[in-house]
Amino acid sequence: MTELKNDRFLRALRRQPTDTTPVWIMRQAGRYLPEYRATREKAGSFMALAQNPELACEVTLQPLDRFELDAAILFSDILTIPDAMGLGLTFVAGEGPKFERPLRSAADIARLTVPDMDGELRYVMDAVRLIRRELHGRVPLIGFSGSPWTLACYMIEGEGSRDFARAKALAWNDPATMHRLLDTLAQSVATYLAAQAEAGAQALMVFDTWGGLLSPPMFHEFSLRYLARIVELLQADAHARELPVVLFSKGASAHLEAMADTGCAALGLDWTIGLDEARRRVGARVALQGNLDPSVLHASPDIIRREVASAIDAFGAHPGHVFNLGHGVTPGVDPEHVKVLVDAVHEAGRRIRH
Ligand code: CP3
Repeated sequence: MTELKNDRFLRALRRQPTDTTPVWIMRQAGRYLPEYRATREKAGSFMALAQNPELACEVTLQPLDRFELDAAILFSDILTIPDAMGLGLTFVAGEGPKFERPLRSAADIARLTVPDMDGELRYVMDAVRLIRRELHGRVPLIGFSGSPWTLACYMIEGEGSRDFARAKALAWNDPATMHRLLDTLAQSVATYLAAQAEAGAQALMVFDTWGGLLSPPMFHEFSLRYLARIVELLQADAHARELPVVLFSKGASAHLEAMADTGCAALGLDWTIGLDEARRRVGARVALQGNLDPSVLHASPDIIRREVASAIDAFGAHPGHVFNLGHGVTPGVDPEHVKVLVDAVHEAGRRIRH
C-alpha cells in the first residue's frame, strides 16, 4: 500500500500532536459543487451515481482538488443497507429518500437478514478499493454507515420525517420487535464497516442523525446500546480493530460521557455544545470532531474566519481535535466560502500551536 502523505486526521483521532488542526466537512462532496452536479447529471440519479464505482470515486475526489482537506469520505449514503435488504430506495427530486417497501409489520422485520457484502453491497467495496487506489496516499479515506436507530427510523417511516413518529410508536408499543430490528441492523452495520475496512477504509464513522429525537432512557435503550455493540463487534474484527471509530449522534450532547464509554476513538459534535465544555467532559478519553453551525458558510469570509478561530481557541492547544461542521454542508453554499473555512482552520491551528 502507498504510504500516507498526510496523516494529520488519523493522528488527531489518536490524540497525537499534529502541525495544525486537520479538517474535513460532512457532505463535502455534494450539490454545492457545480462539478458534483455535472457528474450526478451524467449518472442520471443519486443511486446510479453511488452504485457506479468510477463515478463515486470521481465525486469523492472533487472536493480534495479544490480545498486542502485532510480526509476523504467515501461517496455513498447511509441508506444503502436498507436498500440492500430489499426496501427499494429512491430519491425523489427535492423530497429526499423514499422506500418502495417500508417496514409495516413484525413479519416484515422478522424476514430481514444481513445483506451480502460481496453481493448487493459489492459496489460499495469496489468504490472503496478504487478510491484508495486513486488517492495515492494523499489523505486517509473514511468509511461510514448509519446507526441502527437512524436506519430503523427511515425503514419504518419509509421516508424522511420531522419527528419519526411511526418509528417511535413502535419503540413504545412493541419494544421486542424494535429490538429485533435494531439487532439485525447492528449486525449488518458492523459487517458493512468491517468490509469497508478490509477494502481499504482507514477510519470509520457512524451517523446517528436521529439519536437526538429520543429521551435519555430511550436514547440508552434504542440508540446507544447498539452503537456500543457495533464498537465491540468492530474491535473483534481483524481489519476493523486497527481503525479509529467516530460516533456522531446529532442532538445528543447530553450523552457524551456515555458515548465515550463505548470505547470509540472520537465523538462527532453538533453545534449545540461548546468545544471547551465537550473537551472538559470527555476530552481526556476521546478525540472530538466538530462543530461549527453549517449556516456560518452563508456569512461573510471575515465572520467565517472569526468563528473558525474562536472554535479552535475553545478547544485549545491540545491534541485530539478534528475540525468539521456540526452537520452537513448545505446545497446553497458558495464553494469559495468553504475554501475560506478550510484555510482558516489550518491557519488558526498553526497559530494556536506556537
Ligand atoms: O459526506 C459526504 O460527502 C459523503 C457522502 C454522504 C451522503 N450522505 C451523500 C448524499 C454521506 C456521509 C451521507 C450520509 C447520510 N445520508 C445521512 C447521515 C448524515 C446526515 O446528513 O445527517 C443521512 C441522514 C442520509 C440520508 C439522506 N441521503 C437524505 C436525508 C438525503 C436527502 C437530503 C439531501 O441532501 O438531498 C440523502 C441524499 C444524499 N446523500 C445526497 C448526497 C450528496 C444528495 C442527493 C443528490 O445528489 O440529489
